[in-house]
Amino acid sequence: MSIAFIDLAAQQRRIRDRLDAAIAKVLDHGGYVMGPEVRQFEAELAAFGQAPLALSCANGTDAIALPLMAWGIGKGDAVFCPSFTFTATPEVVPWVEATPVFVDVLPDTFNLDPAKLEAAIEAVKAEGKLKPAVVIAVDLFGQPADYPALRAICDRHGLKLVSDSAQGFGCTLNGQHPIHWADVATTSFFPAKPLGCYGDGGAVLMKDKALWDLMDSYRVHGKAVAADLNGRVFDHDPKYLNARIGMNSRLDTIQAAVLIEKLAIFADEITMRQVVADRYAEGLKGAVLSTPKVIDGGQSVWAQYVIEHDNRDGLAAHLKTQGVPTAVYYPVPMHVQEPYAHFPQGAGGLPVTEALADKVLALPMHPYMDEATQQQIIDAVTGFNG
Ligand SMILES: Cc1ncc(COP(=O)(O)O)c(C=O)c1O
Repeated sequence: MSIAFIDLAAQQRRIRDRLDAAIAKVLDHGGYVMGPEVRQFEAELAAFGQAPLALSCANGTDAIALPLMAWGIGKGDAVFCPSFTFTATPEVVPWVEATPVFVDVLPDTFNLDPAKLEAAIEAVKAEGKLKPAVVIAVDLFGQPADYPALRAICDRHGLKLVSDSAQGFGCTLNGQHPIHWADVATTSFFPAKPLGCYGDGGAVLMKDKALWDLMDSYRVHGKAVAADLNGRVFDHDPKYLNARIGMNSRLDTIQAAVLIEKLAIFADEITMRQVVADRYAEGLKGAVLSTPKVIDGGQSVWAQYVIEHDNRDGLAAHLKTQGVPTAVYYPVPMHVQEPYAHFPQGAGGLPVTEALADKVLALPMHPYMDEATQQQIIDAVTGFNG
């Protein structure tokens, strides 16, 4: 049997009966949009992520855009983010006419480098053209960014902190989820994510009810919410009163029903992912340039298991001949992609990001990988002499 890069079928076999029943329930009650499962899932997601509130939406990209819209981020604002990330992280910044400023990452954890972030904020301030407004930290490959350091920098400079935890939802640092430090934490339920649904989905975790209400408005075409009505009485359904220009970004009820069942086994799956990661670390010791380093006190959810190798492409080709699928996240950093190349960068450029793009290789990773299959992968990697 061929080796799966991510084995979603194994997870489905585990909970198929519950999924079938949950989906059937939605088909029976017919509340396909914003049905009861959506609010139930939001409450359960918030509890899991140690957040007072969660708001679901259509995908993990909109989840980053919604807080920027609700905070009124716009023209002239600088939003600092890594370049070593998926496109969605910087993509939403020009949507609101703000400017992404790319900052380099740490060579060991691949997450935002706090010292380079602070230097970039100071340089933008000194130049005086843009106003530093937001930092978007990414929990790349599943592990938490250095939130205590990032929060302290944001506080010193009066910036909002977004945790783009699309790959890292469920990760912790010293037992705390990213929302402990961030103003909002966002995630994606794209099927391959550690907590994924069977289509697109996303969510924003937060602490502030007024912010939740505002994002609830933005996710439904800018509908009027309680604060907009402010005691005013209308002779028509307030549902059709639009207080701002919003978007349509709702999580389908069927996806919420699926996610309720997947969330129920998520903690167990994180433990299982850690077992797989530990087996890789042990088996690959000394055979590759580096196995992943997790920040001290951090718990990764291991969205990916990414090694570094000087002959990355040679190793990937060799693994393919051995039936081992691999992937490169990310071969072309955002700051060199054509639509993003004109945006500013932190002082000194992004040498770590550029070096990583040539060396990183993701190996198969999912909670249900058995030992024999994993040994086959480890043997294939250690057998490479290139
Ligand atoms: C770091 C990061 N941010 C944002 C997203 C966007 O999520 P989605 O694909 O659900 O829009 C992704 C996922 O693909 C991601 O990896």
